Amino acid sequence: MRRKIVAGNWKMNKTLAEGMELISEIAASPASSEVLKIIACPFIHIPGAVQELKALHGFAIAAQNCSEHASGAYTGEISAAMIASTGATHVIIGHSERRQYFNETAAVLTQKVNHALANNLVPIFCIGENQEERNSNQHLEVVKKQLKETLYHLAPADFSRLIIAYEPIWAIGTGLTATSHQAQGMHNFIRSEINKKYGKEISENTSVLYGGSCNAENAKELFSCMDVDGGLVGGASLKATDFINIINSFTVSPTE
Ligand code: 13P
Repeated sequence: MRRKIVAGNWKMNKTLAEGMELISEIAASPASSEVLKIIACPFIHIPGAVQELKALHGFAIAAQNCSEHASGAYTGEISAAMIASTGATHVIIGHSERRQYFNETAAVLTQKVNHALANNLVPIFCIGENQEERNSNQHLEVVKKQLKETLYHLAPADFSRLIIAYEPIWAIGTGLTATSHQAQGMHNFIRSEINKKYGKEISENTSVLYGGSCNAENAKELFSCMDVDGGLVGGASLKATDFINIINSFTVSPTE
């Protein structure tokens, strides 16, 4: 059985005090115990978030990025080992904002994935096409290439530790959500590609999350798709009630 997961990506939001208040609100709200709840907060909040949530069942803390280097003279960078030393267990890698604004190439992302895994962090690896690629019907090829370029060097045992997040760029922060039909179609394609490379058992057990204007209104329909195992939520994760409502959207059995 694949794990149901809702991850909140705060991006570059919240001062230390604001972030800790949000963590406290989330901790105080009743959230489905069936769902793994991941908070991908800025680095500054990680130790406090780990402290606040460690006694609660089903929470994990993620970083939003890690360095492609192990350690050394890289001013301003944070390594996978440093993240792991805080008690965080996950790290987002390959978010489209980092690919686009920080020029993160497939080669760089491969190094990041390798360092994360070497430090026992679970990468939440993001893939997804832009509007032009979707319009010209290249979206399947784009996503296939992103998987292949950065992940297919991994041994099966390592690949099986990953979480994949499908985030169509045209849906991020735009209020334009993929329809459940579009999401299911892509998630099914991703799973079939993983099946081709790593076999049925690994493909059936890999959680594939949807991200892109996911909110309390549309989460239920998206999460009811057979191959959608949860969400990677940006804007709507910045309010405790919205985030909790999204988590608690997992009430229905999956349908095709
Ligand atoms: P929004 O939910 O704000 O569209 O962001 C999605 C995202 O990029 C999560 O990583």
